[in-house]
Amino acid sequence: MDYERLARLARKARVHSFSPYSRFRVGAALLTRGGKVYSGCNIESSSYGLTVCAERTALFKAVSEGERKFVAMAVATDQAGFTPPCGACRQVIMDLAGDIDLIMAGSRRGIRVARMSELYPYPFGADNLKKKK
Ligand code: THU
Repeated sequence: MDYERLARLARKARVHSFSPYSRFRVGAALLTRGGKVYSGCNIESSSYGLTVCAERTALFKAVSEGERKFVAMAVATDQAGFTPPCGACRQVIMDLAGDIDLIMAGSRRGIRVARMSELYPYPFGADNLKKKK
């Protein structure tokens, strides 16, 4: 699937955003190696810190359905420019999907593509949890 199309699916997913507190809608579309797409949106809580970002919604949906191999994730907002994923999502994307392509889309036409390793260089990961003598 081409990344323009994946970005369109992220824009579509943004419509379901539950964001009455921030009024900041975010949509995500996650492409698996098998060609399936899992979408997600941000879901806010009245206890603000319990909010889940669109990226993590999409990832958790996919992993909970048994998916473990991914190619790319598109993220869409209503902003004119390109909005990069927050730090918490960079960690979780790196943990669960690794060095995939991250596609950013705003309200205007066009997309921006970055590798996860560009957005999150020198990441914390499972290897750091191993005890070393
Ligand atoms: N948000 C996301 O969904 N993804 C990000 O990467 C950044 C922030 C959401 C969380 C919250 O609902 C709103 O955007 C404002 O921070």
